[in-house]
Amino acid sequence: MKTVTCIAPVNIAVIKYWGKRDEDLILPINDSLSSTLSTDYMCSKTTIMVSPTFKENRFWLNNKEVTFDSERLNNCLNEVKRRASPTCGELLQWKLHICSENNFPTAAGLASSAAGYACLVYALAALYRVEGDISGIARRGSGSACRSIYGGWVRWNKGTLPSGEDSIATQVAPASHWPEMRIIVLVVSDDKKKTSSTSGMKRSVETSEFLKDRAEKVVPRRTDEMIEAIKSKNFEAFAQLTMQDSNQFHSVCLDTYPPCFYMNDVSRAIIEMVHAYNEYKGSNKVAYTFDAGPNACLYLLEDHVEEIVALINEIFPPLAVDATEYFRGYPIHVNSSKLQEVLQLKKHTPGCLKYIIQTKVGDGPSILSNSSEHLLTENGLPK
Ligand code: DP6
Repeated sequence: MKTVTCIAPVNIAVIKYWGKRDEDLILPINDSLSSTLSTDYMCSKTTIMVSPTFKENRFWLNNKEVTFDSERLNNCLNEVKRRASPTCGELLQWKLHICSENNFPTAAGLASSAAGYACLVYALAALYRVEGDISGIARRGSGSACRSIYGGWVRWNKGTLPSGEDSIATQVAPASHWPEMRIIVLVVSDDKKKTSSTSGMKRSVETSEFLKDRAEKVVPRRTDEMIEAIKSKNFEAFAQLTMQDSNQFHSVCLDTYPPCFYMNDVSRAIIEMVHAYNEYKGSNKVAYTFDAGPNACLYLLEDHVEEIVALINEIFPPLAVDATEYFRGYPIHVNSSKLQEVLQLKKHTPGCLKYIIQTKVGDGPSILSNSSEHLLTENGLPK
């Protein structure tokens, strides 16, 4: 019997991945770039156990048993086994029990598949002692998962080989490079069903000419500029590129036929607030980015956290009186400010935001060696 437990981070792209050139291998049409978020407040945790006594492969996800019969899951598993150390011997024949959970609500729609697959592949690779880069294996689970294999600032190189061997993630800078950087996640209340990233981007590839242009002409130049901005810690340039890329991604969604709408009125009010604040400050102090949903991720330097949170609180007043439920992640000191009046921004009805998480850029996945951390008992069942 052997057991491995790992945790893996979420990542938030500042140059978006949107569109595949190969659906099965999950090969993208453009490079993308993200920061990996600290696992202190948001992460996936996975325990994998193999035993000669297990009769079948089993998988529990967020406290519910789910089928093992998933193509993406099996692609990852087969790829890890193919690269397993020759010393694994009979371990490779034993059946697996996998238990995985997120410490943040999946309903929040926050890149849970990226953290989940990165965690699964990292744990499998530790179990079967795989050497070398494993981001290409995580990619087979979910494209954006390959970026969660590394910490700090990470680029997913689209690659050019038909095999996908060169479509892997590489670290651009470690988390320690820009320690002042903060990420504030604004979880927007929303109960509408949305198109998944997988099907949305497929439709974009099939119908949007604008996406082709973006992938060929805009992203290569923008990725170089973004790397330069990060390396030189140029927040002004970083913020502009981040906002422009998010906006372009959502324009592609609109150019998709039929269109995909991911942002809602609250998302758009957040965009307006950020631009009004930056204009008032005379330079970019905060940047927004949105994935395939209405939640906003704000990038900003620590000096501006208090002021921006005070402004958010005025424009989007919380419903909950319980501040610890509402303000999550690294502690936020909430002041009051009169900025909302100065900037002439409309106050929204209370409860537009479900909660706010403050976090930082962090490291990649890690192994938890203490057996008390395992999600499975000695018998291989969820604790
Ligand atoms: C908008 O990685 O979830 O978050 O590869 O089909 O699993 P699949 O898609 P996924 O797409 C993420 C898209 C995005 C942008 C990004 O993270 O780069």
